[in-house]
Amino acid sequence: MSTTNTPASSPAVDKAGEEEPIQGSAPVYDRHILICTGVPAKGWAKKPELSDPYLNLLSTAVRSQGVNVNWTDEPSQQLHKDDIKGPISAAAEQIPSTGPRHDLVLFPDNVKFLGLRYEAFKDLSRYLAQHPTGTLRPTLEKLISEQQNQQNRESRTATLELVPGSGELVNVELVQEPSAVLVCVHGSRDCRCGDRGGEFYRILKDMVQMTGLTNSVKIYGVSHIGGHKYAPNTIMYPSGDWHGNLSELDSEDAQQILFDTLGSGGIAGGVRERASDPVMIEKWRGRRGLNKEEQLKLYQQILEKRRQRSGATTTTTNQDQPKSLFSAPGEDLYEDDGLKELPNAISVESNKPTPENSATSAGTGSDTQKVKIVFETYQKVRTEIEAKIGERILDIVKDKDPSRHAVYQALECTCGGQLECATCHVYIEPPYSARLPAVTDAEEDMLEYAVGRNEKTSRLGCQVRVQPDLEGMVIKLPQY
Ligand code: FES
Repeated sequence: MSTTNTPASSPAVDKAGEEEPIQGSAPVYDRHILICTGVPAKGWAKKPELSDPYLNLLSTAVRSQGVNVNWTDEPSQQLHKDDIKGPISAAAEQIPSTGPRHDLVLFPDNVKFLGLRYEAFKDLSRYLAQHPTGTLRPTLEKLISEQQNQQNRESRTATLELVPGSGELVNVELVQEPSAVLVCVHGSRDCRCGDRGGEFYRILKDMVQMTGLTNSVKIYGVSHIGGHKYAPNTIMYPSGDWHGNLSELDSEDAQQILFDTLGSGGIAGGVRERASDPVMIEKWRGRRGLNKEEQLKLYQQILEKRRQRSGATTTTTNQDQPKSLFSAPGEDLYEDDGLKELPNAISVESNKPTPENSATSAGTGSDTQKVKIVFETYQKVRTEIEAKIGERILDIVKDKDPSRHAVYQALECTCGGQLECATCHVYIEPPYSARLPAVTDAEEDMLEYAVGRNEKTSRLGCQVRVQPDLEGMVIKLPQY
């Protein structure tokens, strides 16, 4: 059970003491790779990016393909070059066996590259570029079938050269379980993920065992995926839906995650679009392949559909609402899917704030009150901007007003303020730096990744809001 004192499922709260909507908080990415380390989560270093050259190099190689990389405690299969069989097996003799090898599970394609070594990372990146999501799995199924016929044997594995003519042979396997749930259990990164995430992971694993679903869904414990404050966090594949603020204290959330994963369909051929909406929309963070605006738009569409359904007729069928894994036939766990109870709901009928504009209005004064702030690029180009009280530096910079072009270009803010990237790094000097709220642990954690960090003046632009006493502040932008 959880050992943390923070209540389970409590909504994340920002520095202004307001609840942050969870919807729209999933990062933008296309694919996801899990490195099968065979190391239990309690043995994981705090920052895999810094401590594991394998993860670091792989992340760097596939970043351009929009691929996230994490550890999982799943062991890799023992692989030796003698295991590589196929029509090009003679070339295997040419392959030196240097460095570590790990199996890599690729989502949403749901295929496993067996025993990949450092030297194959660039080839893997090229291979993924040539086989986009939705095309890889059918390609491999065809290849496996051809090799089966040649060798007259049953197999789920194909042997191929990622780059034809390279001599680098790789075995690729179709993962047996069609669906997967990834749970962040990275306790050394954040105790909430270890405690709550670890417990949620155990509940899911037990549930899969007890219900005989081991051939249908695979549960992976994974390293930091982002959003400690929402722990327990899960990602379901193939749909790529993210959930957070789940409860590890009873089994209902775990049941719903499992049902939704199974209900959203596995991979039979290519990657399928899910036919139904996420069930736990109040705990839904977003979806693979969608940016923040698209996630929020989808969220609002789902709310609207539910409103229409609940208002239409009492005999409307609840197609999106699954039954309990353990409930008696006909028993419905979701008698009231209760929009009124959604803690983070965004109303589409009113002008209630979206996460974007709620962030900008969450400061200490009226959002019509403004102060002058100067941005200075590393080339000493200055831009003066009238900023609203309560705006984050990120919001100011990412305003597409042409007069802000220089600063727009100068700060990437890749994660959109999720404390996952440090690309919003800025320098704020005294006396203004002393007027700002202190750096939180989470900001400090991410500042360690800021290139050219200055212990006294570095801040993250997504964590600093404009205050009335910052009139005239100069914000210096780093070169990198
Ligand atoms: S925008 Fe990514 S950490 Fe601030």
